[in-house]
Amino acid sequence: MVKPRERATTMVKPCQQSKSQPKTTKSTNNLLSPKLFIYLISISALLFILFHIQSLHHHHVPPRPSSAAETAAKLRRSVTFLPLKDLRYFNKALVGHTWFMSSLYDIHEDGEVQFQQFPSPVVDGDDRILCLKGRDTHDGSWNYYGLAWPEALPENATVMKGVSFVSYNHYDYGNIWHGLSALMPFVAWHQIQGKCEVPERWILYHWGELRLKMGNWITTLMEATFGAPLHIEAFEGIGDGQPVCFEKAVVMRHNEGGMSRQRRMETYDFMRCKARLFCNFTMPEPASAAVRMTILMRTGARSFRNEKAVVEIFGEECAKVAGCRLTATYSNNLTFCEQVSLMRKTDILISPHGAQLTNMILMNRNSSVMEFFPKGWLELAGIGQYVHHWLASWSGMRHQGAWRDPDGPPCPYSAGDRRCMSVYKGGTIGYNRTHFSEWAKKVLNEVKTRKMEGATQVTANQVHECSCI
Ligand SMILES: *[C@@H]1O[C@H](CO)[C@@H](O)[C@H](O)[C@H]1NC(C)=O
Ligand SMILES: *[C@@H]1O[C@H](CO)[C@@H](O)[C@H](O)[C@H]1NC(C)=O
Ligand SMILES: *[C@@H]1O[C@H](CO)[C@@H](O)[C@H](O)[C@H]1NC(C)=O
Ligand SMILES: *[C@@H]1O[C@H](CO)[C@@H](O)[C@H](O)[C@H]1NC(C)=O
Ligand SMILES: *[C@@H]1O[C@H](CO)[C@@H](O)[C@H](O)[C@H]1NC(C)=O
Repeated sequence: MVKPRERATTMVKPCQQSKSQPKTTKSTNNLLSPKLFIYLISISALLFILFHIQSLHHHHVPPRPSSAAETAAKLRRSVTFLPLKDLRYFNKALVGHTWFMSSLYDIHEDGEVQFQQFPSPVVDGDDRILCLKGRDTHDGSWNYYGLAWPEALPENATVMKGVSFVSYNHYDYGNIWHGLSALMPFVAWHQIQGKCEVPERWILYHWGELRLKMGNWITTLMEATFGAPLHIEAFEGIGDGQPVCFEKAVVMRHNEGGMSRQRRMETYDFMRCKARLFCNFTMPEPASAAVRMTILMRTGARSFRNEKAVVEIFGEECAKVAGCRLTATYSNNLTFCEQVSLMRKTDILISPHGAQLTNMILMNRNSSVMEFFPKGWLELAGIGQYVHHWLASWSGMRHQGAWRDPDGPPCPYSAGDRRCMSVYKGGTIGYNRTHFSEWAKKVLNEVKTRKMEGATQVTANQVHECSCI
């Protein structure tokens, strides 16, 4: 359930530009602001008065009143387009106002998603809309954005109706983790600020460069979440440099940043619920205390070297717990709905580090994850190896730890050499019977206890999770 929130709206201020950075552009705030608008109007009025004073003295000069059309023409010409990617912030691409649309502020309520919306929902009378000249797929500094008054759009502008989602992703949309991180804030917006509004189109940027597709899993998840196939905008039929303005636009550039854990969990609850509806799993599952374990196997890189042994070890522990069922399957050839179905019936997900683990968000809340890494990852894989710890926390799951294989192929370079990662990256994962048995026993008992306590609670698909306010 989504609780009512305090409306403590604040604007996120851009961080101070450091002195050492070269100043290549005069000002970050040179878009037409309400102040500038008033300024322009005042100038027009002043000119009008001056003309009249002049005409009193020189009766031969015909009066030239400033008309609304002239003001509109001035406003039209005053729309300033700035590069989508601001190279001055290259070193702080993700900080504060970011290098994407760097002159604009986000709206941020405490614990809520950070976003931009045009026309502004928080500044009365600022009904400027977002315009883009943004179809370049190679260099984000050749793509531009600007704000325009709807009655004075830039020359030759095309107007696109409905809500447009404009996404900034620092990584890529093919990767499930990075794709999901970039898109989940739109789901959060849809739930609350958007009041269930569904996007007409998605405009995807990476470093300001237009992207035309995202991975299949994430595409299907978004289709399920928003109840319609996605239209990913390619600006076909729009000439280079021709502006496109959006009746209503929502821009996300901070992923889940700023969201409370509660709000993150609600957002994942919503996607899970929608995915189940999409796949027609509408009947609530009978409450049961039986524990269901699933081993989701990979082929190739990060597969289990000895699948049979791994399945056997977990099978033996499962067999010791009354009502426990073990399923072992490959993730690569399951359809989206087969994954939704399997995860709905999984309490403990056992799987190597990899994209398939993102399926964890489709389990019921409080389900468990056990993760496995090949040799060398702890030392060399960087912070990215923890993404499934984070995802478990954000989606309300329990990450029950990881096992790291001490054995693997030798690296020809000295220990700790970065180049070793290329050897470890494609590594496979062995097993330690003693460790796996003890770990499985511990997690099984914990889950069993929790399920017995919670057996009276409704498990799946409470309808309220699928609704927005
Ligand atoms: C608008 O379109 C017309 C016709 O295609 C073209 O001649 C003109 O240069 C365009 N104006 C701008 C500012 O691009
Ligand atoms: C769900 O059911 C509807 C109506 O029977 C059907 O049109 C749709 O194809 C089904 N969806 C899936 C994913 O099976
Ligand atoms: C799914 O993929 C696995 C591994 O590639 C393979 O062994 C299995 O036969 C496949 N199953 C189906 C139904 O194609
Ligand atoms: C998950 O576990 C927490 C803490 O044990 C509990 O308060 C919460 O009700 C559980 N949530 C669900 C959906 O079972
Ligand atoms: C296997 O795991 C056990 C328990 O964690 C540990 O004591 C033992 O050293 C491990 N064996 C190997 C070969 O790593």
